[in-house]
Amino acid sequence: MPDHLFADPGLAALYDRFHPWRASGDLDFYLPMVLAAESVLDVGCGTGMLLHAARRAGHTGRLCGLDPAAGMLERARTRTDIEWLLGDLGSVPFDREFGLVVMSGHAFQVFVTDEELLTSLAAIRSALTAQGRFAFDTRNPGARAWERWTPDHVKEITDASGALVRMWNEVDTPVTGDVVRFTTKVTSPSWSGPQVSRSTLRFLDTGGLSSFLTEAGLVIAEQFGDWAGNPLTASSPEIITVARRA
Ligand SMILES: C[S@@+](CC[C@H](N)C(=O)[O-])C[C@H]1O[C@@H](n2cnc3c(N)ncnc32)[C@H](O)[C@@H]1O
Repeated sequence: MPDHLFADPGLAALYDRFHPWRASGDLDFYLPMVLAAESVLDVGCGTGMLLHAARRAGHTGRLCGLDPAAGMLERARTRTDIEWLLGDLGSVPFDREFGLVVMSGHAFQVFVTDEELLTSLAAIRSALTAQGRFAFDTRNPGARAWERWTPDHVKEITDASGALVRMWNEVDTPVTGDVVRFTTKVTSPSWSGPQVSRSTLRFLDTGGLSSFLTEAGLVIAEQFGDWAGNPLTASSPEIITVARRA
């Protein structure tokens, strides 16, 4: 997802239309884990869809969403019975407070540099209780999803006024290494021109991911290759990981 595009409150309103509830996907996978945990931190919570669903489903404990995009959080804040924090992991010194830290929707891939990965994982470890779990997903580089991020893979939705809004990505080529840089363009007949934003995502492989987790004092408890819970293979679409303190 192009992060700063949806930082704008008007465009954040379109986010949930482009990314509705992912039944049989990440949100259905994480929701039971959220409901089973007494206290939950959702890092990169976006518009708060997962925590909203948890409250609606009867979660009575602490739910906290953290995101640096003001427009996304503005939408999340339509529910006032959840803590919403504007910022990133560097701005929240949590200490053993959460039974679950979750990052859905490939939000983990926004950590691009080694330093960002290590400081973020250290902050997540520190936020976890002794028995706490960190559940997150990153696209498996073996499935090469960025090769399908082309102008002929357009996503279309209608906005609140019924106007057709189109979104597509254009990847900087050649892609070398595990960092993918791309431009997202969004058009609407009611705008004078396209909205354009730049994003950078890292596609860590399983070996790299496991090294970073180890260095941050975390161990893998479970790992899956897709949302049905199948084992991870070289070409699985996802690397879904549940980690805990070492
Ligand atoms: C692809 S969206 C996923 C949103 C939500 N988790 C979901 O599943 O719909 C990625 C989110 O990560 C947020 N983000 C970007 N940089 C971040 C950072 N350094 N720390 C935490 N969140 C970040 C963005 O603002 C955005 O809301």
